Amino acid sequence: NKSQAWSALFSEPMSDLVKRYTASVFFDKRLWAADIQGSLAHAEMLTAQGILGQDDHAAIQRGMAQIKSEIEAGSFDWKLDLEDVHLNIEARLTELVGIAGKRLHTGRSRNDQVATDVRLWLRGEIDELLLLLNALQLALVEVAEKNAEVILPGFTHLQVAQPVAFGHHLLAYVEMFARDAERLVDARRRVNRLPLGAAALAGTSYPLDRERVARTLGMEGVCQNSLDAVSDRDFAIEFSAAAALVMVHISRLSEELILWMSQSFGFIDLADRFCTGSSIMPQKKNPDVPELARGKTGRVVGHLMGLITLMKGQPLAYNKDNQEDKEPLFDTVDTLKDTLRIFAEMAAGITVKPEAMERAALKGYATATDLADYLVKKGLAFRDAHEIVAHAVKTAIGSGVDLSQLPLAELQKFDARIGEDVFELLSLRGSLNARNILGGTAPAQVRAQVARHRARLRG
Ligand code: ARG
Repeated sequence: NKSQAWSALFSEPMSDLVKRYTASVFFDKRLWAADIQGSLAHAEMLTAQGILGQDDHAAIQRGMAQIKSEIEAGSFDWKLDLEDVHLNIEARLTELVGIAGKRLHTGRSRNDQVATDVRLWLRGEIDELLLLLNALQLALVEVAEKNAEVILPGFTHLQVAQPVAFGHHLLAYVEMFARDAERLVDARRRVNRLPLGAAALAGTSYPLDRERVARTLGMEGVCQNSLDAVSDRDFAIEFSAAAALVMVHISRLSEELILWMSQSFGFIDLADRFCTGSSIMPQKKNPDVPELARGKTGRVVGHLMGLITLMKGQPLAYNKDNQEDKEPLFDTVDTLKDTLRIFAEMAAGITVKPEAMERAALKGYATATDLADYLVKKGLAFRDAHEIVAHAVKTAIGSGVDLSQLPLAELQKFDARIGEDVFELLSLRGSLNARNILGGTAPAQVRAQVARHRARLRG
């Protein structure tokens, strides 16, 4: 009976509903490896400090090894009565090794223990997410390289604006994911600090060597204030914000994939294995994966809202509210990992339809700016050139042709300085090649960026 687990003070047992309401073991058992790792580091330090005997230490190590193999084999008996992962493991340890198990919790509270566990777990997940983000970037760089010359209508306001290389467009997402990775690396520094030693809230009277535990656990330092150490979850919120941004970027890409695959655009096809059909309409092939990713962005953003709201009204120090940090964190990590994996695979399965892209780019007078720039080079002020070209576009729309299809004589009516050399610039390719500036869309720039990303991602 759990009420006896902490105190003789309680005069009645907990009701079943309260037990279920307060228990976290069915989700926080996921922290078991971190919990054992933290306990072993704590025990090792207690021993080094002479607080725990060598025999007890050996017994704890033996017991934990046994518990590890039981959990891995699926034979560990998780008990709701024991509330959470920490008490479950500690109770089993005591069952296995006796009094040494009861000594493990010396100088420790579940408050600093759980904060340590979540940090250790999250650190490992961040490392995996960084690998997955890396793989996704490499996959996109691959597709970008193949499409350095393919012309896509670039949009603003979803209206055709200027031609861009499809590869350039994809590399925009690589930039976003690169910043996402930077954010995770930065958040990791603050995740990777040690709360243990803060005990319940005030520190402890035992001569613990906190720095030693931090070193053992590969942490970058110890939390310097015991109240803060056990109570703030800003590290989780920060992670969650970085994760939400990853999903927002994924969602924007999804939206574009969905549009591009629609019949009205027809720019790309996604491999069948990422699509589903319709139970009624035989002709359908739907981009379910990007649609779901766009949808799942809602839940990850929602988790950020949940976590940040969880924190806002809590007085110092630890409050049970914090138990609610786990499910959103777990779901955020799971959603992100699956999404990143699937997108890296899907990128390789994109079939590009260059003719359709080019046809679409030709429809919207995408080289009008180039004509204005041409006139500026002939001596006009940009504002005047802008006005002249607007008239030319109006005429072209009236005749239902592209600017490049207007005869030279017709163009010269707008400005006599226009010469035969204008036609190269009015072509989509001419326009693309002209933007040969750092960060621009010219294929030469796209290739240079591909090389830079490769070196960065492989290096
Ligand atoms: N399951 C708890 C959590 O997730 C562990 C810490 C509980 N501490 C306490 N004093 N009730 O936060």
